[in-house]
Amino acid sequence: MESIWSQTCKIEERAPLSGDLKTEVAVIGAGMAGVLIASALQEAGKRVVVLEADRIASGQTRNTTAKLTSQHGMIYRKLAQTLGMEAARQYAAANEAALAEFRRMIAERQIDCDFETQDAYVYGDNAELLRVEAEYADALGLPASFVEATELPFPAAGAVRFARQAQFHPLKFLRAVAEPLTIYEHTRVQEADGHRLVTEHGTVTAEKIVFACHYPFVNFPGLYFTRMHQERSYVLALENAPKLDGMWVFADGASNPYSFRMWNGLLLFGGGGHRCGENRSGGRYDKLRRKARVWFPRSREAAHWSAQDCVTADGVPYIGQYAASRPDWYVATGFQKWGMTTSMVAAILLRDAVCGRENSYAKVFDPRRFDTETIPGVLKEGGKAVKGLTKRIFQIPAEAVEDLAPGHGGVVSLDGEKVGVYKDEDGKIYPVELRCPHLGCQLEWNPDEESWDCPCHGSRFDKYGELISGPAQTGV
Ligand code: FES
Repeated sequence: MESIWSQTCKIEERAPLSGDLKTEVAVIGAGMAGVLIASALQEAGKRVVVLEADRIASGQTRNTTAKLTSQHGMIYRKLAQTLGMEAARQYAAANEAALAEFRRMIAERQIDCDFETQDAYVYGDNAELLRVEAEYADALGLPASFVEATELPFPAAGAVRFARQAQFHPLKFLRAVAEPLTIYEHTRVQEADGHRLVTEHGTVTAEKIVFACHYPFVNFPGLYFTRMHQERSYVLALENAPKLDGMWVFADGASNPYSFRMWNGLLLFGGGGHRCGENRSGGRYDKLRRKARVWFPRSREAAHWSAQDCVTADGVPYIGQYAASRPDWYVATGFQKWGMTTSMVAAILLRDAVCGRENSYAKVFDPRRFDTETIPGVLKEGGKAVKGLTKRIFQIPAEAVEDLAPGHGGVVSLDGEKVGVYKDEDGKIYPVELRCPHLGCQLEWNPDEESWDCPCHGSRFDKYGELISGPAQTGV
């Protein structure tokens, strides 16, 4: 089902690339990050083109809950204790600057995008941890305080409030920002080689290249697949639910792990998160529906959808030079659940990097960081990333086609080979190769989205095997 954003805002279609061209900067990906990066570079006087495999905002931007905030869960104490106060200060200041830049752009360009100032809250069951987080955030110059969590439909020990954050309609905003940019849709980059980007419609030669395509698809150099995985989460839009002030997310370990915000009279109620490829039993939407019946008994479901986030080893996005051996490549990825604000952080940082300007927030986001604090996380991430391969060899399910109910997918043995099978409502069978074309992990069926999902790095394929999202570059 389409998100409420997709249902209420259509973005005009652009033509694919037609033939070869040269430019100063090529940006791969026309989601919020790619469009904002291109816009910032164009404002700085650069000639920029954007190459988009599908449509503008067709990835995660249309599925976000669209919160603009420096409050990223309970991150500030963790950052201060693991990376130091200076790194935490850079992270906080970069996000505050991003929020200010959203306000400036929306005001100066008079963008009608349902922008509203709202307080942001992270709630939980441990008041002491919440108080400490508020103290760290306050010490870093953020507008943070500990408060009671009385707005929620269930008890919580309290919340950390960040005053004067914001929310908006992401597609209305993006449509306006994209309007003056040169964007080629339906133009998938198949190969990146030095300064050349090869697509099926022509080759782009660029002095600088920015990978803003959610999950970088070039494995070497960079090795992003060793230090990042993807997580899915689910949202219901509820009519006739009680109005709730502010934007709410949960702290890790909260007994009720959900998120809430309002838009246009609808309550956006999110939850059910899991690592991509680990949802074989399904039921994520149904669990949200059960909770909604208890907490908002007069509400009705107006829409449901899901989103996918890249999660880094140390909890900080990778924004900056792609790899030491690629001085003219840049990347913006690993935004966790904070893709809107972090897209603007990326736009500011990469504009400055491409233009050769100093930026005092850049260091904490540098993708080339590997220090004694992050290495254990990197190794753990790499270890999890081979889990799918192990499962492929040792734990192949033995379901038969006749055991599959119509409208379901599963793994069966055909001609001695294990394959994925989707059976449609008429009983027609659609087999898919279970080996992910990215790095070969075994795909898993996701009954909530009727998709084949990769547990290693989060590539997804529809029930017929067509690519939904990478890092894989082809279907199965
Ligand atoms: Fe990397 Fe599937 S996404 S192996």
